[in-house]
Amino acid sequence: MEKHWWQEVVVYQIYPRSFKDSNGDGIGDIGGIIEKLDYLKKLGIGAIWLSPVYASPNDDNGYDISDYEAIMAEFGTMEDMERLITEAKKRSIKIVMDLVVNHTSDEHQWFLEAKKGKENTYRDYYIWADPKADGSAPNELGSTFSGSAWEFDEASGQYYLHLFSKKQPDLNWANEKVRQAVYDMMNFWIEKGIGGFRMDVIDLIGKVPEKMITGNGAKLHDYLQEMNKATFGKHDLLTVGETWGATPEIAKLYSNPKRQELSMVFQFEHVALDEQPQKSKWDLRPLAVAQLKEVFAKWQTELGDEGWNSLFWNNHDLPRIISRWGDEKNYRVKSGKLLAILLHLLKGTPYIYQGEEIGMTNHLVSAIEEVDDIESINMYHERLAQGYKPAEIINAINVKGRDNARTPMQWDDSQHAGFTTGTPWLRVNENYPKINVTQALADKDSLFYTYQKLIQLRKDNPLVVWGDFHLLKTAPEVFAYTRSFKEKTWLVVTNFASEANEFHYDGAIKELILSNGPTPSQLEKVVLMPWDAFVVEVVKS
Ligand code: GLC
Ligand code: CA
Repeated sequence: MEKHWWQEVVVYQIYPRSFKDSNGDGIGDIGGIIEKLDYLKKLGIGAIWLSPVYASPNDDNGYDISDYEAIMAEFGTMEDMERLITEAKKRSIKIVMDLVVNHTSDEHQWFLEAKKGKENTYRDYYIWADPKADGSAPNELGSTFSGSAWEFDEASGQYYLHLFSKKQPDLNWANEKVRQAVYDMMNFWIEKGIGGFRMDVIDLIGKVPEKMITGNGAKLHDYLQEMNKATFGKHDLLTVGETWGATPEIAKLYSNPKRQELSMVFQFEHVALDEQPQKSKWDLRPLAVAQLKEVFAKWQTELGDEGWNSLFWNNHDLPRIISRWGDEKNYRVKSGKLLAILLHLLKGTPYIYQGEEIGMTNHLVSAIEEVDDIESINMYHERLAQGYKPAEIINAINVKGRDNARTPMQWDDSQHAGFTTGTPWLRVNENYPKINVTQALADKDSLFYTYQKLIQLRKDNPLVVWGDFHLLKTAPEVFAYTRSFKEKTWLVVTNFASEANEFHYDGAIKELILSNGPTPSQLEKVVLMPWDAFVVEVVKS
C-alpha cells in the first residue's frame, strides 16, 4: 500500500461553537481556535477536523449550510479562516473541513430559487415529488430527526425531501449541475490550502427516494469517483466519509486505494453495540465487551490492504465515552486511559473529540427545556405522543443525546470554565472546577499525557501505524491484542471492567511501553485490577 500522511497522524475534532470564545458573546469562534493551536500542538495532533464553520441559520448547528463559501458571522470572517489555515500550517497541523453536501439549508440561495416554482432553473437541485391521491406524503420515508422525510410546499403543491430537519432539504445528486457546483466549491477550499474533507452522511448521496433507497444507492460510488477526479484526487488530502451501516465490504468500496474514492470511512458498528438490535439509538442495552472485541477485531483484520480504518470513540453526535463505557464514578481517569490506549494502538487513523483528552463527561438534564439539540427535542415530542413517560425519554437523552458532547470545552476553573467571559450558549458541565485543561496540564499523571504519549508513540514507531493486528483469546472482559511489525511484537492488555480479571500470555516481557497503573513483571499469570491497561514489547515463546 502506498503510504500517506493521513495514515500517520492523529486527528482532533473541533466543534467550533463549544471550543473557545474569543470575543465574549458566549459562542466559540475561529479566533478562539487560533488561540488554542499551541495547546493542540503540545498534544501532538497532525490535523483538525473542523465541524462546519460556514454560513448557517443553525437549525442543526451548522450542518444546515446557507452559503458554502462564506463563514458564519458568529464564528468570524473568511480572513479569520485563512489565518487559521496559515497558523495551523506553521504548527504542522492541517485543517480538514466538514463537507455537508447531502443537503443544504432551506435558506441557501439554491433552495430559495427552487421554491419559486417548477420552472425555476434550481428546482431540480432538490428532490420534489407529487402528493399521493389523498394529498399525503409521496411515501413513508422518515427523517432521522423524527417524522416524515417529506415536507409539503403550499406554493407548488409538491413535497420536498429532507432526510434530516425540514430546514435541511436534500440535494439532488442525480443532477449533474449539482455535482459540478459541489466540486467547484470543494476546489475553492482546496485552493485555500486545506488538508481534506470529512464528508457528512456521504452514504446517502446516491439515494433513490421513489424506491425507498437512502443509503448505498447504486450511483453512490460513481459520484465519489467523479468527485475524486474533479477535486481532491490531484492532491494528497485526507478524505473520510461518514457512513452509518458500513460493513467491511462496503468500507472497501470507499477506501480501496485502487478505486480512487476516499481515504477512509467512519464506520459505526461498535457504536451500535449498546442499542437494542433493529431499534433506534434511544433503545438502550448494556455493552457486552466480548462483542466489542469481536467487532473491532473484524474491522482490524478484514480491510487488509484494501482499505483503511478510522478509530474513534467520540464525536459531536455521540455521548462522552467515559460516561458511556468507562467508569465515570469510580475510575474516570483510569478508565479513560484504558479507552485511549486500547483505541490508539489499533491499526488506523485515530480521532480525538475535543475534551476527550481531559476526560470530559456527559452532562445530565432533568427536563426537555434544558436541551438544545434538534434530534433530541424532536424525538422527545415524538415519543411523548407515542405514550412514553417523560422520565424514560429524558433518561435516554442523558445516555445518548448529542448535547452531552457539545457542552463547552473546560479550559480552567474560572467562571464558565474559561470558555467565555460572556454567557455560554449551552450550559457548562458543573464538574469544570475539577476537570479542565489547566488541571490536566499541571498533573503529570493526567489523561492528557497518556494521549500525548500515544501520539508520540505513533510518530516514533512504524509498528503502531503499520503493524499486523492479532486478537488474543482471553476472559470476556479482557481485551488484549498484539501488533507485529518486522521483528517486533507489542502486546496491549486491557481489563475493560470494574472488577479484577486474570490474563496470561506465552512469552516474556522485553520492554515496558506504557501503562495506566502498575505493570506486571511476568506474563504467565497476571491479575488485572479494574481498568488496568498496559503495553509491553514481548518476545514470544
Ligand atoms: C451527520 C452529522 C450530524 C448532522 C447530520 C445532518 O450525521 O454528524 O451532526 O446532524 O449529519 O447533517
Ligand atoms: Ca465568540
